[in-house]
Amino acid sequence: MYVCVCAGITDQQIRDAIASGDHNLRALRDSLGIAHSCGMCVKDTRQILDEELRLKAAASLATELVVTRTEPMPQKQAA
Ligand code: FES
Repeated sequence: MYVCVCAGITDQQIRDAIASGDHNLRALRDSLGIAHSCGMCVKDTRQILDEELRLKAAASLATELVVTRTEPMPQKQAA
């Protein structure tokens, strides 16, 4: 789906740029050329950015929990 019609930028291009390290609107603007004209794409770009960064943080936390967990999980007691 096109997010920035002025520059012809899709949501996937934005997600790829975020995955490559563009973690704020300025970085996306510099690398993709998004939001350089009318600015109508700023709101949607911020939404995608927030969503991707939240997913990235959750994935990082999950990995950290798996890596740092050394004890076996407690067994549930039968009632
Ligand atoms: S839609 Fe992105 S600058 Fe116009």
